[in-house]
Amino acid sequence: MELSIFKKTLGDYVKKYENDIDGLFYWSSSLYFSAGLGFCALCNYYDCDIIIDSGTGKYGLSTEIFAKCFPNKKIITIDTHSYYNNEKFIKNRLKQYKNIKFIEGNSEKEIPKILNNYKNKKIAIMYDGPKGKGAYELFKIHRKNKNVLFAGFDDCGGSNKYTIGSYNFMKSTNEVLCWSDEDWYYEKYGYLDKNRYHVNHNNDLPILYEGHPYKESYPKGPGSCFIIN
Ligand SMILES: C[S@@+](CC[C@H](N)C(=O)[O-])C[C@H]1O[C@@H](n2cnc3c(N)ncnc32)[C@H](O)[C@@H]1O
Repeated sequence: MELSIFKKTLGDYVKKYENDIDGLFYWSSSLYFSAGLGFCALCNYYDCDIIIDSGTGKYGLSTEIFAKCFPNKKIITIDTHSYYNNEKFIKNRLKQYKNIKFIEGNSEKEIPKILNNYKNKKIAIMYDGPKGKGAYELFKIHRKNKNVLFAGFDDCGGSNKYTIGSYNFMKSTNEVLCWSDEDWYYEKYGYLDKNRYHVNHNNDLPILYEGHPYKESYPKGPGSCFIIN
């Protein structure tokens, strides 16, 4: 895909995305809504059947975004749950979405099984655990299945000091279509992360933020990037 086509795809899709994510809270340690736009726009463009989300995380926001945007697609979310240990809360929080399949396990083992089970389906993968080189190494295995159409990789932006190592690695692959924390992208779509309610811990009341709670550390977000297979 040419960058110009991706830009048009984002522009054509953003209003639908904005409506679909309206009212969702930003749960801590989650995918930025602006980054989710790029991934969901590609899911829509390629009309994929299945979205694999690795990992579910502390609250499952990326899974929720995908499930809400695509009620007719199957969302398979995987996590070891050893890092945040919040599986019960997440499953209860997301029980209204009937298109989510939860898998407790390591993506390294679980994704090949899924790819094998759905050989005739069009698949998109979001890697948000493991990160950087670890995620790309998994993608190198998964992409051998040509029904993996594209992948997103979170936390690999070049606009902050925390993810610069992963940025440099992803850049070195010469395969990245675009990063969500590039200037043009964030200037156009960064508004998706603003004026939202944020929840920090399981039973906290949501707090409205005009900017983003992480704006000091990640002024344009931690940055997701996208590779077409
Ligand atoms: C930053 S969180 C994901 C946030 C989530 N995508 C969201 O937007 O809410 C990263 C998660 O990846 C999980 N993880 C890391 N490596 C993994 C692996 N190899 N298999 C499955 N899950 C993994 C961790 O347990 C952690 O919960």
